[in-house]
Amino acid sequence: MCPSSPPASPRLRVLSGIQPSGQLHLGNYFGSIRPNLEWMGKAEQSLFFIADLHALTTVHDAAALRQARADIILDYLACGFDPAKALLFEQSKIPEHTELLWILSTITPMGLLERAVSYKDKVQQGIAATAGLFTYPVLMAADILLYDVDTVPVGRDQKQHVEIARDLALKFNNAFGETLKVPEPQIRAEVAVVPGTDGRKMSKSYGNVIPLFGDEKAVTKAIMGIQTDSRGAKDPKDPDTCPVFQLHRLFRSKGEAEALSGEYRKGLSYAEAKKRLLAAYMGFFGAMRAHRSSLRAADAAEVLRHGNERAHELAAKTMQRVRKAVGLL
Ligand code: TYM
Repeated sequence: MCPSSPPASPRLRVLSGIQPSGQLHLGNYFGSIRPNLEWMGKAEQSLFFIADLHALTTVHDAAALRQARADIILDYLACGFDPAKALLFEQSKIPEHTELLWILSTITPMGLLERAVSYKDKVQQGIAATAGLFTYPVLMAADILLYDVDTVPVGRDQKQHVEIARDLALKFNNAFGETLKVPEPQIRAEVAVVPGTDGRKMSKSYGNVIPLFGDEKAVTKAIMGIQTDSRGAKDPKDPDTCPVFQLHRLFRSKGEAEALSGEYRKGLSYAEAKKRLLAAYMGFFGAMRAHRSSLRAADAAEVLRHGNERAHELAAKTMQRVRKAVGLL
């Protein structure tokens, strides 16, 4: 089921960000990395960044953050990020992100943030209700608006955040004149919510992920441990309510998924469905995983140096317009 890739759009700017707050997982890959990589070379500018300032809202361990930041860059390279066609940069290296965060926060209604579901969800999971967590969507709006981005391919969990960025761009333009480009989210229905091993959305914070890279044992354990109902091995099963089947669909064509769905209804055992999922996963990610294990930190240095420098130039231009619009120049 490979969705058709985007048409060449020489005037579009596309942006995506991932928090370095743990290992990358299948949800990140299918919801964000792959759709964004498909824009590479087709959009006028495709930008990928490491949302390390956002990660500080949950990661308070310097060594862990450092490691996750280093890993995610190599993960991107292993997934196919091509520095000749796109930019990869670190949010924390571009001070304009936090400057724009502040300016936007002065026009952000409290009610808009109070309605943000991700904040409520994280607090419910026990994450400290800090000012940083509350204003997280405003920093995300700054990330997007700084680069005059047209479209932001994300999973459904980030849709509301991109809509907040839109609202803030419109609000800013109303208050200070046409300054910021108004972005659109882009969500692929078939990968909008990749389920985790417990059937809920796959998420680092739910502890239900299937990792992209790393230990083969951990991948096997995660896949073979996907929660299923108590139907017996030979009983007919409902593919539509089974997370194993939902994950199979990520790797299969429509015809293959239909054939598997038929087998489910006839009584394919969950153990067999999981074994086949593991084989599909290894078939799909095998080459990327081998490439990932051959990469070293030095491979990332030049990519980041170039990405940080170029992103800074773009961000600085927008900030000049913003400073002028609000009266700081
Ligand atoms: P993060 O780090 O939680 O996730 C990164 C990307 O992966 C997608 N994703 C999923 N998609 C489908 N199913 C899932 N189970 C799943 N889990 C994660 C997310 O939708 C996201 O696209 N706030 C963002 C990071 C961010 C950002 C930005 C993104 C900061 N600034 C500006 C885009 C533009 C986040 O926490 O993503």
